Amino acid sequence: MFQVVNHGVPSSLLDEVVSEATRLFALPAPVKNRALRTPEGATGYGVARISPFFAQLMWHEGFTIMGSPASHARLLWPDDYQHFCGVMEKYQEKVKALAHNLFQLLLNYISLSSPAAAAAVEFDGALQLNSYPPCPSPSQTIGLAPHTDTLFLTILHQSSPGLQLFDPAGLRWSAVDHVPGALTVNVGDLLHVLSNGKFRTARHRVVVMSDTNQRVSMACFYGPPVESVVTPVVSPDDGAPAVYRSVGVKEFLNLKALHLDEALDFIRLNN
Ligand code: OGA
Ligand code: NI
Repeated sequence: MFQVVNHGVPSSLLDEVVSEATRLFALPAPVKNRALRTPEGATGYGVARISPFFAQLMWHEGFTIMGSPASHARLLWPDDYQHFCGVMEKYQEKVKALAHNLFQLLLNYISLSSPAAAAAVEFDGALQLNSYPPCPSPSQTIGLAPHTDTLFLTILHQSSPGLQLFDPAGLRWSAVDHVPGALTVNVGDLLHVLSNGKFRTARHRVVVMSDTNQRVSMACFYGPPVESVVTPVVSPDDGAPAVYRSVGVKEFLNLKALHLDEALDFIRLNN
């Protein structure tokens, strides 16, 4: 996990997505429920996708966008949904350009800069808006339970602190500095696999910090098209054998839906 500044996403646009997300989550519950994510659906309003794995509810609500949010936004603001859509689409366009640049740079580190690799940088993505309302007793709840993100890269903007990163060596959580204007980038499971474990998937969680302020965040997730197969790149320099078998993106999404953070164990090879 690392942070980027001078990333090319204008700060005015960051402010606008924060303000549009705040406007969305401020709507009355019955209005938000008009845009509820369906059990089979991927987009819309709802609880965190990882919720079924945890006994306790999270102090969180979310709204997932893939491409244009118009179909759901229209249900929220029948007469005035275009502004919201325009901001969200612009944000996805800008962050996607950044994701491409970062991904190309990261590929260089795993000796994968061939034209085939460049072709693989066909990203499918989603934009997840998160809201953590003020909580009367923040220490007694969790914002978003510990998890890793599934795809290649996540690019996150947080309006205020709350994100924590797990250090698997020290077995402890540490707060991710809140650097105003910076974007936080983290490696997901499929880049972990592609890099044969060189770039480790980042386990993270969100704690609720405030009894007075709402926190919002926007996470853009990028991964390969769902029809593709991810194969570990075995670097000729270090001679380390593949740690994972090749896995179809769709297969991995299914493993993750069933086993959450144990999904990687199912594709690890017994060397
Ligand atoms: C996520 C996530 C962090 C945050 O949406 O997967 O980890 O700060 N969000 O809201
Ligand atoms: Ni996450």
